[in-house]
Order: sequence, then C-alpha cells, then structure tokens
Amino acid sequence: MLKIVVCVSGGGTNLQAILDAIDSGRITNTRVITVISNNPGAKALERAKNHGIPGICMSPRDYADRETFNEAFTAKLCELEPDLIVLAGFLVRIPEQMVAKFSGRIINIHPSLIPSFCGVGYYGLKVHEKALERGVKVTGATVHFVNEGMDEGPIIAQKAVAVEQDDTAEILQRRVMEQAEWILLPQAIDDIANGRITITDGHVRRVK
Ligand code: GRF
Repeated sequence: MLKIVVCVSGGGTNLQAILDAIDSGRITNTRVITVISNNPGAKALERAKNHGIPGICMSPRDYADRETFNEAFTAKLCELEPDLIVLAGFLVRIPEQMVAKFSGRIINIHPSLIPSFCGVGYYGLKVHEKALERGVKVTGATVHFVNEGMDEGPIIAQKAVAVEQDDTAEILQRRVMEQAEWILLPQAIDDIANGRITITDGHVRRVK
C-alpha cells in the first residue's frame, strides 16, 4: 500500500481528483495519510476533512525565517514517513534537504507542457496568461518528479490540450484541469503505486 501525503495551497481540485480516483478504484494500492496546506483557508483542507483525512497547516509565515520553516517542514514529512509526496497545486518551494531525503519520491503537477511556461514566476493563472500572450495553439499539463530545480525534474507524463480562439486564462485553466491534470495526476499515482513507473539515475521508465 503506497502511503501518500498531498501538499496543497488552494482549491484542491487535484486533491479531489485523487480522492475520487481512490474511491472509484482508478487508483489502487494507495492511501492518502495526510494533507498539508500552507494556507489555513485552503478549500483543499475542507476536502480532506470531508474524507476523514488529517489536514495540517504549515506556512513559512509562521516561522522566524525560511530556513526554520524548511527544517520544520522536512521534519514533519520525515515523521509522517510517506512513500510518495504529491504536490497538487502547492505554491511553496520544496526545501533542498527535503528533495535530498525524498529523492525520487516527490511528484508535482504543472499546468503546461514543460519546458514551456514553467520555472520561477509560472504558477496558477499566470501560466495560462503567458500561454495566451504567446499565442500558443496547444498547451497542456505535465507530471514530473521533483528535483532541486524549479519544474526541472524528470517528466513522468504529459497531455496536450487545445487553446481555443476566445479563451481567457480562467477558461483555459479550467480546460487544462478537466482534460489533463485531473486525469494525469491520478494515473501517475496509480502507475507508481503499482510499480509501472520507476525512476533510476534521473530517468523515468515505464514498465510494460
Ligand atoms: C493547478 O492548475 C495546478 O496544476 C497548479 O495550481 C492549480 C491548483 O489547483 N500548480 P487545485 O488547488 O488543485 O484546484
């Protein structure tokens, strides 16, 4: 049984997609042990509560400095002993010491086709605003392992989504979620839980 901790900051629709997929059997062999949010008002915490999953709030704002938060955050994850940490719309940079401790055991969902529209400053709606500004006709989402870089870790899966003529950032964000994120992330978790995805020396392999 893969024990996962899901880290969130906002609405938690990706968390909901994971919980629904576990309930319906699209994700097997997996249990969400805790949800961590950096934002006490996150709807995601409510979703966790409704599912009987413990929710914890840990924000850098509650610590004297970033280093103290990083230590506390890493210590909390070590205490929880997850097999996999899932960043589902988590807006806090993962501390290097945590990446080192959980190497190959942290995944993230990003709402673009990496390496486009990613890295520092590309989060939430901004990603879609930039895609519209650039006029791309295809965007999408990416699930990847997390390394020390920003959105730079080994890619697990990607799914393309069409950009339509009169899209606003909000409309495009919703389409990317519906057509890509809510499908890709549960699939990746199920693949990892059932040994179909492995990572060795920074290379992702799909076991047939
Ligand atoms: C998603 O688009 C995710 O890819 C991005 O932030 C958004 C979070 O949405 N990093 P939600 O909290 O899962 O609803």
